[in-house]
Amino acid sequence: MKITAFNCSPRMGTSNSEKIIGPLLEGAREAGAEVETLYARKLKIAPCTGCMTCWMKTPGVCLQKDDADMARRKMMDADVVVLATPIYFFNMTSYMKNLMERTILPTALPFLREVNGRFGHPSRFPDRTLNVLLVANAGFWGEDVFAPLLQTLERCREAGLEEDGREHMHFVGNILVGFGEILQTEPFGHFFEPLFEELRAAGGELVETGEVSRATCEKLAEPLFTYMNMDADQAVQMANTYFENVIKHVEETQA
Ligand SMILES: Cc1cc2nc3c(=O)[nH]c(=O)nc-3n(C[C@H](O)[C@H](O)[C@H](O)COP(=O)(O)O)c2cc1C
Repeated sequence: MKITAFNCSPRMGTSNSEKIIGPLLEGAREAGAEVETLYARKLKIAPCTGCMTCWMKTPGVCLQKDDADMARRKMMDADVVVLATPIYFFNMTSYMKNLMERTILPTALPFLREVNGRFGHPSRFPDRTLNVLLVANAGFWGEDVFAPLLQTLERCREAGLEEDGREHMHFVGNILVGFGEILQTEPFGHFFEPLFEELRAAGGELVETGEVSRATCEKLAEPLFTYMNMDADQAVQMANTYFENVIKHVEETQA
């Protein structure tokens, strides 16, 4: 199995996204997968200009010559694409949105098509399905925090549905981690060893079964303070005390 991961956090290698996909991809590699990680911020991908050249003048080929074409080919070649993003404004980062606009739009035909009451576009590659493992982490926690991202991606999946039910975008799992910012706090690292172990196992499961099961995703959806044996109120208090102390320290050192 070939897995290509796109880490769409601007923090790249030091991100919480990396701390989550790191063990996951390690588990997948140990189970025999060929794994590659690309950092969306490092890629030179200019925003879509909406010129529609890739739809009409040079079908399937964007006018802008940058890394988007390479990223699109890597996506098309992979058995599974991992899209990792922190939640920014209750959705994906602009890096991930930019990546999707520039890599996925050229794979669609311009024609409007309604399937199951939902508008979408037929694919330029009728036999190709993009298998996506979504990995998102957020400062907050709770289903509502991830809902707008999930809704956006679900609508994109629907936009690629064939009348016979075949999908051009298929989700092989959604790993949604709340209170993710705690992973930046190095001294707390040991609390998360069980999480990293679960992620490693999830990577193995992905290679063995082609997906990360709903049960595994649900287990991984526990907000991270639970690994510290804290409840939500204690987590809020800890986070707010931390922010107060940092701000005070900065004020004192600047005075
Ligand atoms: C510009 C910006 C917007 C953010 N918006 C949200 C948000 O809407 N909801 C939330 O729960 N966290 C939000 N966060 C917090 C990040 O999701 C959180 O810090 C995450 O752990 C960062 O992950 P990373 O290290 O992988 O980038 C935001 C952070 C930034 C910098």
